[in-house]
Amino acid sequence: MPSDSMHCLFDSRTIAARVSELGAAIDHAYSRAQAPLVAVCVLKGAFVFFADLIRQMQTPLELDFVRLASYGQQTTRQEKVHFSKDIEVSVQGKHVLIVEDIVDTGHTLAYLKQVFQARRPSSIAVCSLIHKTGRREIDLPVDFYGFALDKGFVVGYGLDCAEAYRQLDAIYELTEPASAPRG
Ligand code: IMP
Repeated sequence: MPSDSMHCLFDSRTIAARVSELGAAIDHAYSRAQAPLVAVCVLKGAFVFFADLIRQMQTPLELDFVRLASYGQQTTRQEKVHFSKDIEVSVQGKHVLIVEDIVDTGHTLAYLKQVFQARRPSSIAVCSLIHKTGRREIDLPVDFYGFALDKGFVVGYGLDCAEAYRQLDAIYELTEPASAPRG
């Protein structure tokens, strides 16, 4: 259940309409692709978006999942991040579409792109549900995105705050700073 400390930014109908548009835009982008497409869902936050997005696409694809974990406090952000679950399909010679929940500072995306690039794909593109611009530290292209936000901490539609709210069918902004740790 949504609580008093959040307000709805994008309801389920708005999200569905936008995801449908994104699916069509991605199909168009890959319509002349010669190589196979692998769509990679970044767990956990992108799982709801990913499930809806791939069902709005006609382009044949393989799908797989990756999960990131971070550790330590003393090293740089990039050194801290590692895969706690890697994909199982090969991406060599294939087009890779990384499906993220939110690109915020850009560090997570930079790490993902670096790891996948080393596996010699045909191309790498990024689709993020939320393109959060106000705290960007690494300027990487986000090829497709659902909604742009400057700042704020959002939950629902797969996005969490301390693992809560993922099952909400709309996207909410947390309005109490105490319950919004990262936005
Ligand atoms: P980045 O490395 O700073 O770009 O962080 C991206 C990750 O931070 C996302 O994949 C989310 O897991 C998390 N994150 C950033 N902002 C929010 C938010 O507003 N709500 C929920 N998670 C967020």
